[in-house]
Amino acid sequence: MTVRPAGFKRCLGNLVSNAGRFAKSIAITGHRDHRWLTITVDDDGPGIPAAMREEVFRPFLRLDDARNQDEVGTGLGLAIARDIARSHGGDIILSDGPLKGLRATVRIPV
Ligand SMILES: Nc1ncnc2c1ncn2[C@@H]1O[C@H](COP(=O)(O)OP(=O)(O)O)[C@@H](O)[C@H]1O
Ligand SMILES: [Mg+2]
Repeated sequence: MTVRPAGFKRCLGNLVSNAGRFAKSIAITGHRDHRWLTITVDDDGPGIPAAMREEVFRPFLRLDDARNQDEVGTGLGLAIARDIARSHGGDIILSDGPLKGLRATVRIPV
């Protein structure tokens, strides 16, 4: 399938770097069927409470006690990643993952 390379790289890069900041282990899968390219990024970090999983896509929103105050972050990573997924006709959703932390799922139509 065809993607815009720079945007697609940034989309996945933002998700993977979030996972890398909060977790020790990251698992990435990719799967394509007749309709969708589906990529999952799982981590074993603290996750995001279900009630906050849409909020965190808002620009500049970063979760409190700023888990990593010393880390550089703008609160734009998820907003940008979702914009890019949507500009490819897809989306990103957050859920519980098999590693106990967060699962970010990117889905782009084929
Ligand atoms: N994999 C993750 N595990 C736990 N919390 C996360 C994860 N990814 C994002 N978050 C939370 O969502 C907030 C927003 O993420 P993001 O938009 O990428 O901004 P930033 O990384 O600059 O803080 C983060 O500040 C963090 O609180
Ligand atoms: Mg980020």
